[in-house]
Amino acid sequence: MSRFATGVTVLTAAGERCHGMTANAFTSVSLEPPLVLCCVARTARMHAAIVTAGRFAVSVLGADQEGIARYFSDKRRPAGLAQFDAVEWEPGAHTGAPLLTGSLAWLECELAESHDGGDHSVFLGRVLSLRRGDGDKALVFFGGGFHQVAG
Ligand SMILES: Cc1cc2nc3c(=O)[nH]c(=O)nc-3n(C[C@H](O)[C@H](O)[C@H](O)COP(=O)(O)O)c2cc1C
Repeated sequence: MSRFATGVTVLTAAGERCHGMTANAFTSVSLEPPLVLCCVARTARMHAAIVTAGRFAVSVLGADQEGIARYFSDKRRPAGLAQFDAVEWEPGAHTGAPLLTGSLAWLECELAESHDGGDHSVFLGRVLSLRRGDGDKALVFFGGGFHQVAG
């Protein structure tokens, strides 16, 4: 899979298990109804966060957000809301989940379905809202490293 270039996102969820996690297993599924999916390891704290909240948000990272991608994949970051002290964010209107400032786009989703995917779960999200940011350079994960791509 390291030969498959992807964008990079941070998934977030609000509530008692408020949490954020870097994820590249994210894709669009359907336009009507609007559905996206993400795959989350059962062992990740993000898994319980999404199941408990029943909603999640996606911040699509721009080229200058590699540090954020590294931070939200580092198990040493603080737990709960405190982990977001290191970044700028605002709560999503539909989910309350942190939307990371400076991202290329934001989606807020309601958890529509959850499927068994081996050691991951496949979470299908019904898109509640979408917003574009101003940036035009994407953060890309390829060959085990981060890269930048201009639009
Ligand atoms: C570029 C990148 C993409 C990642 N994509 C995913 C993913 O799609 N799903 C997943 O479960 N973990 C993914 N990870 C790993 C998690 O970010 C990492 O294991 C994280 O520490 C799990 O956090 P948590 O247990 O605090 O929720 C990715 C890591 C990186 C660096």
